[in-house]
Amino acid sequence: MPALSTRAPARATLAVMTAAGIEQRDDADAIARGLERFRAVRRSLEEAVLPLATSLDGRRFTFQASLHGLELQLGGYVVIEQGERSEFGQVLDLSLEHASGTELDLPSDDPGSLGLKTGVTLRLARGEGAVIEGDGAPFHDAILRPATAEEVRAWTGRLRRKAVLDVGELALAPGVPCGLDAGGFDRHTFLCGQSGSGKTYSLGVVLERLLLSTGLRIIVLDPNSDFARIASVRDGTDPATADAYRAATASIAVHSAQATGEHRLRIRLGEIGAATQAALLRLDPIADADEHAELTRLLEEGRMPTAEDVEASDRPGARALQQRAHNLGITELGVWAREQPGSTLAALHDESNRGVVVDLGSLPTPEEQSLVAEAVLGELWRRREERRPVLLVIDEAHNVCPAAPENPILALATEHAVRIAAEGRKFGLYMLVSTQRPQKVHENVITQCDNLLLMRLNSAADARFAQSVFSFVPPRLVDQAPAFRLGEALVAGKLSPNPSLLRFGSRISEEGGSDIPATWAGGG
Ligand SMILES: Nc1ncnc2c1ncn2[C@@H]1O[C@H](COP(=O)(O)OP(=O)(O)OP(=O)(O)O)[C@@H](O)[C@H]1O
Ligand SMILES: [Mg+2]
Repeated sequence: MPALSTRAPARATLAVMTAAGIEQRDDADAIARGLERFRAVRRSLEEAVLPLATSLDGRRFTFQASLHGLELQLGGYVVIEQGERSEFGQVLDLSLEHASGTELDLPSDDPGSLGLKTGVTLRLARGEGAVIEGDGAPFHDAILRPATAEEVRAWTGRLRRKAVLDVGELALAPGVPCGLDAGGFDRHTFLCGQSGSGKTYSLGVVLERLLLSTGLRIIVLDPNSDFARIASVRDGTDPATADAYRAATASIAVHSAQATGEHRLRIRLGEIGAATQAALLRLDPIADADEHAELTRLLEEGRMPTAEDVEASDRPGARALQQRAHNLGITELGVWAREQPGSTLAALHDESNRGVVVDLGSLPTPEEQSLVAEAVLGELWRRREERRPVLLVIDEAHNVCPAAPENPILALATEHAVRIAAEGRKFGLYMLVSTQRPQKVHENVITQCDNLLLMRLNSAADARFAQSVFSFVPPRLVDQAPAFRLGEALVAGKLSPNPSLLRFGSRISEEGGSDIPATWAGGG
């Protein structure tokens, strides 16, 4: 293929066929004119490529279109028309193709010349798509065009869904609301995007809409205190929404280490599972048999051993156990409920709470965060038979159920998360797992997620990983993730019957969190 899109060289020879045979002539001008004509002809041919679609099964279609003034977009919605028929579809693959065409005969200026023969390669758009609404019959050479915003809006209106969460707008049909199917939250959901892509903000949007439009209870493991103010309405929220939201969140309990009274984040040793207690004390039931027995006895009373216990006890394990708990700093942890009644784990089951935010970020050490996260996961799993539907939200999931847990408590937390991911659904335990490091979350949690909310991902390795795990999502749409802007996402799975590109709307509640102020950049 000659370099047709470059300028004509200043000097060149032209092969001209004359009556005496082929002659090589120095004729830069003639070449330039020939190229110009070539380009003009090629452009007209390319412009003449019609946007035509063909489907053999009435469900998937292929198409071609001109690159000149191309309006079709990957993930965008299209109308396919043939005579009276009209189908509604979505573009799921779009690429540039070079199609070799026939040989062109470009007449030369030279009176003796028979002309310049050249093969022309046309550049055009080719793609594939899915028919979303149609009569199911095959079609061939049907005209394809982008759907108007009204047509997209009309289609979303026709979708039969019981409760729609209005979380933003369709990125490729601005102004058309993007509604997530609330019923889709009975599957586990994976929310993934690089740091700063807007995961936590968007997660807040989703949770707010769930609180407003459904009765699903929500439990949030909140490592950065991002949802501590989920019940506080932002200034500027329209009064009707603000009132409805306040009513919906009146019974949200935010448990934080700094709170006093019933909202203090607190657990009881006796409430956490035996394996967690042993892991906390680094006890082996066989090697440390006496201490283990003493622990079991004390735990029946639901407390840590005290100095008085040791004095009063003649059992061999008592002193050793107290010493061990003291040495490990366990007795001093601020997270124990001690004499305060109730606990955060008890609040998880309190039906009068619409939701519980477990403010892990308020705890002083990662060890306490892991302990509480494990306690919550273990508690939900232990009481699974109660079958009370709840959405368990795990933000920064790579720290709660990592692929490679670094200590026994995290290993137990991961084990519980994996169990809930595998079997929780039948008990009404639905997960929403969020991370910026998909490869660092335990694979058995991710692979159980049927819904994907994918935000910007810059790492090619992460994008490949997402593609391999979420093979039900058209790969070319996942490919778009590096180009997403803040707050843009691809949603697929039961939440959205067709994979949609969406732009999240605004929060109703205050963001908690502690973004570091950027005032230092001003030099002052
Ligand atoms: N849709 C949005 N509209 C306006 N601001 C947004 C939107 N989404 C995110 N932001 C802002 O962008 C910043 C980063 O968002 P966010 O904290 O949600 O990112 P993240 O993906 O959770 O990051 P990290 O992985 O570091 O936790 C925040 O200051 C947030 O307020
Ligand atoms: Mg975040």
